[in-house]
Amino acid sequence: MDFNLTEEHLMIRDAARDFAQNELLSGVIERDDKQEFPKEQVKKMAELGFLGMMVDPKYGGSGLDTISYVIAMEEISKIDASASVVMSVNNSLVCWGLETFGNEEQKQKYLTKLATGECLGAFCLSEPEAGSDATSQKTTAIDKGDHYLLNGTKNWITNGGTADFYLVIAQTHVEKKHKGINAFIVEKGWKGFDIGPKENKLGIRGSDTHSLQFNDVKIPKENRIGDDGFGFKFAMKTLAGGRIGIASQALGIASGAYELALKYSKERKAFGTEICNHQAIAFKLADMATQIEAARHLCMKAAWEKDNHKNYDLSSAMAKLYASQVAMDTTVEAVQIHGGNGFVKDYHVERLMRDAKITQIYEGTSEIQKIVISRSILRD
Ligand code: CAA
Repeated sequence: MDFNLTEEHLMIRDAARDFAQNELLSGVIERDDKQEFPKEQVKKMAELGFLGMMVDPKYGGSGLDTISYVIAMEEISKIDASASVVMSVNNSLVCWGLETFGNEEQKQKYLTKLATGECLGAFCLSEPEAGSDATSQKTTAIDKGDHYLLNGTKNWITNGGTADFYLVIAQTHVEKKHKGINAFIVEKGWKGFDIGPKENKLGIRGSDTHSLQFNDVKIPKENRIGDDGFGFKFAMKTLAGGRIGIASQALGIASGAYELALKYSKERKAFGTEICNHQAIAFKLADMATQIEAARHLCMKAAWEKDNHKNYDLSSAMAKLYASQVAMDTTVEAVQIHGGNGFVKDYHVERLMRDAKITQIYEGTSEIQKIVISRSILRD
């Protein structure tokens, strides 16, 4: 088994690291403070090919593997998890879903613009009463002959205000339950489509999260993705890949906090020596480094399985469950190592601690990952 990264992977890591250091770092505290979307930075991410990393170049993507995506997500999340969630949703939920299950016309019309970053995408599954319980969709898309009529509300939608195209999951045949659900491509600006106010969040405050309302929105028939009734499976399959993205985001938040804590512990003196020379601190750093390495292996295993066309439902759920716990634990310890300075915004670790929490919630809570994992191990 070869654990070495290829030359190409190392180049991607360096490009993502340089971009994060040079373009994201300087304004990250201010954007967090003001809840400001990293508009210019997202534009640069598009130019670097980070918004359609795994998409075939014939649709405007970078044609890279999932390992490359994990590497880039880690580097960008170390510095700015708000920017990385924009990237993650566009790559793994929107582009991947469209490239894998969309038809050629949908790919030409939508994927080409999403993969180049000319347009942004959002994935709309969650509702006020259907978060974890995703089969209980209340949003309806009723067949009216030449179009579907969309009605309902979606909640906590990442890129909710900034997206141009929205993949919306809705119930078409209520009596068929999850087998009657469909996925549709909806464009911003269509009559009856309203975007609610921006949510005021604990973390990832630079990303824009909104509720969406659909009142008699007409969706052309050709905007349904896949066969009639494929929508729930579409969502589940897409989310399995999305979980690799969020696991990598959690990994990046953890490693970003760890690197800051390590550096600080070598500079800060107490009781006559740098604090890293105290076992109380050195042991914390040892735990952090070990857990981060384990989380990275889980992310890479899930990415490898996806790249090698194996089933990655289990490995992606494990990666997300574990990496998000490591992100939480590591950031709390990084604040602790920084002492009073850790509680101050200038030192970055308090923001990383706030950002870490969402990785245990979105794209399936930790409890949902345990459902996926336990069902898989009990079945096998
Ligand atoms: N691939 C293919 N099919 C799948 C699947 C998968 N990974 N997982 C489930 N299915 C299928 C099942 O086979 C079943 O189909 P059949 O009836 O034909 O056999 C169907 O889907 C229903 O599955 P379950 O009976 O397992 O459904 P459930 O009600 O028990 O729920 C669940 C399963 C795993 C809990 C699911 O509801 C779930 O993942 N919930 C969490 C949803 C979630 O992650 N939401 C996050 C929102 S997106 C987001 O956060 C984006 C953002 O902006 C950042």
